[in-house]
Amino acid sequence: MQVGIDKIHFATSHLYVDMTELARQRGQAPDKFLIGIGQSQMAVIPPSQDLVTLAANAAYPMLTAEDAAAIDLVVVGTESGIDHSKASAIYVARLLGLNRRCRTIEMKEACYAGTAGVQLASDHVRVHPDKKALVIGADVARYGLNTPGEPTQGGGAVAMLISANPRVLAIDTESTVLSQDVMDFWRPPYRTEALVDGKYSSNIYIDYFQDVFKGYLEQTGTSANAFDALIFHLPYTKMGLKALRSALPMVSETQQQRWIAHFEASRKLNRLVGNLYTGSLYLSLLSLLIADPNLKAGDRLGLFSYGSGAEGEFYGATLQADYQQGIDLGLPQRLARRQRVDVSAYEDCFNGQLAWQPANQTLPTHNDPHRFILTGQKDQQRQYLDRCN
Ligand code: HMG
Repeated sequence: MQVGIDKIHFATSHLYVDMTELARQRGQAPDKFLIGIGQSQMAVIPPSQDLVTLAANAAYPMLTAEDAAAIDLVVVGTESGIDHSKASAIYVARLLGLNRRCRTIEMKEACYAGTAGVQLASDHVRVHPDKKALVIGADVARYGLNTPGEPTQGGGAVAMLISANPRVLAIDTESTVLSQDVMDFWRPPYRTEALVDGKYSSNIYIDYFQDVFKGYLEQTGTSANAFDALIFHLPYTKMGLKALRSALPMVSETQQQRWIAHFEASRKLNRLVGNLYTGSLYLSLLSLLIADPNLKAGDRLGLFSYGSGAEGEFYGATLQADYQQGIDLGLPQRLARRQRVDVSAYEDCFNGQLAWQPANQTLPTHNDPHRFILTGQKDQQRQYLDRCN
């Protein structure tokens, strides 16, 4: 029996900032952001969206009543948590109207937690093939205005339905992981922005990729040429390109050209959104599946997941014949319809997030077109609204 991703769907905000404009405002050459970082647009997350609303907005369009009845596990991978105790997955399950006989948990290990959720959910379904699991990677990437990390911000959520006989991707049972205590990126509980040693983190990312990719090939006796495409966690799209380039000498020239062409498709949508931490690898997967005309059933994909701190995993998966039926085909059009905001409006959004203080707060919500929104805080409880209820 095969287990893996049956459906995959993405949500971000309706706002973006143009990277050429941001570069000019920051006194940088636009090509540094467009080519050096590899980002063209960046999602601007308004105060009325947080990881919970992004997660619910990503999941609801793909779930049928039959799916909802079969889901007995909800995992939200995130590092943008809104509570030290209560799992964001509980809010998400309530907003989605899911079954109460359901395990609902939040997972954390920086950007790696989405993959931790996918692997946990896949093992769960292997034991309970009549059940389905909902895994969501949802985050808002925040480094601070006018910081080196600023052009690598962004946000959004990728929701995946994990089932037996999946339509999109069958996930292998074998994978290679690496976990060590590394201080490349972290966020103490009193901060809303990450602390990062940017260059160090980029070097560690490459080291981890090399370690788990080569480790996987040795462990499984697989040749690098066996993979039709490699996809990567994309904190910024140049990062994935650097990792890909580090692996090119391992394959034939024809295969190198194929990998590069697939990689270009896999970063197309990430270029328009920015980093979404736990969801970034899976937005890249979606980008590949939507934008690449040369994929075919049976293609072998290699997925590299990385979370600072640091944990990495490389695993293989096989593209299924009906994958077009399980993917978010309307995504490019939705991204194209987003509203461009200037740098000043982006800064207002950045600074206007719900404050970490006990007072009641009301957030501006009238321009936010999404179904699930955060309206504020009352009696120290976040207030979520489902516009369809
Ligand atoms: P920086 O110091 O501003 O940039 O920070 P730089 O000076 O290194 O320039 C960046 C690139 O632009 C360089 O290319 C320049 O040459 C090029 P590279 O040498 O790297 O190939 N450049 C130009 N190219 C064309 N035309 C020009 C031009 N000027 C310069 N005119 C940095 C960059 C990524 C370090 C910063 O944005 C940062 O700290 N970002 C956040 C950290 C990060 O994303 N790390 C990635 C690995 S860690 C990870 O993936 C985990 C993470 O997602 C978190 C998690 O797990 O939760 C971050």
